Amino acid sequence: MTLTKILSGKDVCKSVYTSLEERIKRLKAKRIVPGLAVILVGEDPASQVYVRSKSRRFERLSLYSETFAMPGTTSEKEILRKIRKLNMDDRFHGILVQLPLPKHINEDAVLREVSPLKDVDGFHPENIGRLAVGNPRFIPCTPKGIMRILEFYDIDLSGKHVVIIGRSNIVGRPLSLLTSQKKPLSNATTTICHSKTPDIRYFTKQADVVIAAIGVTQFVDETYIKPGAILIDVGINQIPDDSEKKYRLVGDVHYDRINGIASAVTPVPGGVGPMTIAMLVENTVESAEARL
Ligand code: GUN
Repeated sequence: MTLTKILSGKDVCKSVYTSLEERIKRLKAKRIVPGLAVILVGEDPASQVYVRSKSRRFERLSLYSETFAMPGTTSEKEILRKIRKLNMDDRFHGILVQLPLPKHINEDAVLREVSPLKDVDGFHPENIGRLAVGNPRFIPCTPKGIMRILEFYDIDLSGKHVVIIGRSNIVGRPLSLLTSQKKPLSNATTTICHSKTPDIRYFTKQADVVIAAIGVTQFVDETYIKPGAILIDVGINQIPDDSEKKYRLVGDVHYDRINGIASAVTPVPGGVGPMTIAMLVENTVESAEARL
């Protein structure tokens, strides 16, 4: 039986924050405090948790962040007006619109309104286009964090078959661009599986690296992988248990079933999750440095 190595995102985060400290100091010496504006529309509990952990991290690093909470009934026009105001506000180097937005809001229109120069989530079509042609400005935080974990643990994707389950604009789609790009440590042959793929196992069983980003609790088990595969778990799902909180977090990978079969796996919690926030900070610092 192989020992399945745990690819801790927390350890990667530590090194990211250590190198950011120096850059933040340099900016502050020039009287620039990296600032992030977060727009949160509605009362989605998961979004509230994410937004709170983002602002706590900015606070811990003595960076500036402000959350603009708007009721779920806010019109699209009002959101667009708010974004235009923030685009002109020099305190903010980054603007993040927390997704999902309420159903009556056109998400595309909102993401297009964010200045591409402040789009630290990398969701503006201009920034996605730049990523697609190999000249990225801001790289979406979760995919960037996953690439950073692989780099930290010396996992070179070159010539490997990467299978991504999930085609979202937040994770799967940009990750397919990053893993297959013509750059050191990338150069993978990448396959995207999704809800209309008839036999996902057919692809994942051939994969050297499986990236699970579907939001289905413990979806990937031993029947999906070949021995020695590397698994990246992007899922954050709650399952009931008898702890004080009444639930625990599990990923899209069934850890107990793949343990001893996969060669490495990112844990949940403590894997990809903390990397997303670290990359958000990094993108905001990058944006502030563009002002130097
Ligand atoms: N909702 C889930 N993930 C994300 C993310 O990375 N950024 C934003 N803005 N919203 C999200």
